[in-house]
Amino acid sequence: MEIRELTPDHGALLAAFRCASTDEHYAQTAELMVTENLEPCLRLDPNLSAIGGWVDDELVAVAAWVTDGQAPPTWTLAVLAVALGHKKRGYGREMKLEVLGRALGAGVRTVVSVVHEDNSPMHWLNRNLPGGTFERDPVHPEYFLWSFRLGESP
Ligand SMILES: CC(C)(COP(=O)(O)OP(=O)(O)OC[C@H]1O[C@@H](n2cnc3c(N)ncnc32)[C@H](O)[C@@H]1OP(=O)(O)O)[C@@H](O)C(=O)NCCC(=O)NCCS
Repeated sequence: MEIRELTPDHGALLAAFRCASTDEHYAQTAELMVTENLEPCLRLDPNLSAIGGWVDDELVAVAAWVTDGQAPPTWTLAVLAVALGHKKRGYGREMKLEVLGRALGAGVRTVVSVVHEDNSPMHWLNRNLPGGTFERDPVHPEYFLWSFRLGESP
């Protein structure tokens, strides 16, 4: 998989991206984030960044995150998604590791993601990476907050 920056110019590709099967209600939120929100948000929000993963000229994975602009900054993942037909090939983990690597290089200390309690694939992916901790979201208890601390021993 080749990982490159996503820009508003990729709007048509983003609009066509499908990552949610019919039984994955939590993934439909992620799909809408990619298909409807990402292109306009990339135009408008200077704190939002996104990368795409391509295989044979097909966009197979998307990750986007927001920085809070603090010192040191915290990044919050807006979405991490792998296209239908391309899951369970390691692309999701590769994208998450790319985000964590970029965060480390940018001096970020914490990368946070919000994961629905039913979203087993995302919980498994996070559990299989080093350095992650999770707690139930006190405001939205059907979600967990996953945190990866960078630049220090776990
Ligand atoms: C969550 C998601 C990104 C995972 O992507 P993926 O490319 O399928 O995951 P990977 O192949 O990289 O798997 C990484 C690890 O997670 C685990 N895993 C992921 N999906 C799994 C599944 N359906 N069943 C069992 N284990 C799974 C595996 O343990 C794997 O580790 P392993 O290779 O050592 O066994 C993908 O399922 C997806 O796009 N879901 C819809 C969008 C979404 O809900 N995103 C999260 C909220 S923004």
